[in-house]
Amino acid sequence: MSLSPRPRTIVSVVGARPNFMKLAPLARQLAGRGDVRHVIVHTGQHYDRGMSDVFVEGLDIPRPDYNLLVGSASHAQQTASIMQRFEPVCLELRPDVVLVYGDVNSTVAAALVAAKLGIRVGHVEAGLRSRDWSMPEEINRVVTDRLSDLLFTPSRDAGDNLRAEGVAPERIHFVGNIMIDSLATLLAGGGLNGGNGHNGRPPYVVVTLHRPSNVDDPQTLRELLDALGEVSRERQIVFPVHPRTRDRLHALAWHPDDERVQLVEPLSYRDMLKLVIGSDLVITDSGGLQEETSYLGIPCLTVRPNTERPITCAQGTNRLVAPRADALRDAARAAWSRRRNPAPSIERWDGKAAERIAAVLCDGSHFD
Ligand code: UD1
Repeated sequence: MSLSPRPRTIVSVVGARPNFMKLAPLARQLAGRGDVRHVIVHTGQHYDRGMSDVFVEGLDIPRPDYNLLVGSASHAQQTASIMQRFEPVCLELRPDVVLVYGDVNSTVAAALVAAKLGIRVGHVEAGLRSRDWSMPEEINRVVTDRLSDLLFTPSRDAGDNLRAEGVAPERIHFVGNIMIDSLATLLAGGGLNGGNGHNGRPPYVVVTLHRPSNVDDPQTLRELLDALGEVSRERQIVFPVHPRTRDRLHALAWHPDDERVQLVEPLSYRDMLKLVIGSDLVITDSGGLQEETSYLGIPCLTVRPNTERPITCAQGTNRLVAPRADALRDAARAAWSRRRNPAPSIERWDGKAAERIAAVLCDGSHFD
């Protein structure tokens, strides 16, 4: 029996690199439903080809129906600009549900617009909490969840967080990890076979760093670069550099030893996964990589004092590490012998999250 009226128009709002792999599997599911019109809005928060287009193309996402072209700005300016440009789209389409993904500025901005127009908001990847209010993403997560009617959680701890904050249980749907849907689809289709997306040979370590807390303060960044120097004595490092980090490295005039530290442009989703699969260890501050490495059984060191994804430490391959040279070197030595085979199995990280979300949206299903 259907508990809610069938939505006719569903609008998905994406804008930044980590949104696209969460949208792709749901776009496929909704395309298979004859009674749904799925409209995709790209805010333009990320706009470089390597941060946006290559993801849309590589993940076979339909071309966005709207691009709001907001670009980079301060948090307030960017959030306000997304709101101003998204509101007319909502007024034109009058959607039944607006879906937002993850924890970026596009997520909270679109949720605010929809909630104020009385449109139901669905949050994909709801309930994650780092409890670190200095992270812009934590503010985005808490506010977005507060505005949401449908909260799609990736793990049981996320549901516990929401219930502890007073969210009604019937709004919470434990659907599993939708990003793993994208990864599982590529793995099953052989899309990650062949090559590792870089010129070097194993053994190597993959590094990604882009959090403001790690790269914006020159002293912290220097300490981290020293730490990578230590690690690179024992393993070659391949480091795809985010535009924010590239600018900070230029400002420090930092030049690595090319033999040991290979700096590369941001990679496509597929090339990044190939690179990770061929590696001994990932050192990162990304949220998505903590989950992907756990699913793949590859050791991961997260250079942060906390994580909103504690399940990756409790059940996966992730460890938190301080951004100090000695701590990172010792943790790396311990980690690269820790590759998990078979990879850990985490509840509902099974490639079916998008199917469950579509069932909630279209059939009124509920997932406890
Ligand atoms: C954003 C998200 C972060 C996510 C990350 C993934 C927020 C608050 N942060 O951080 O959660 O992990 O995306 O990449 O939403 N820039 C470019 N080209 C681009 C995009 C950005 O050069 O296509 C540069 C600009 O100088 C910009 C800076 O990168 O000012 C930061 O971009 P922004 O979107 O503000 O935040 P991210 O650091 O990418």
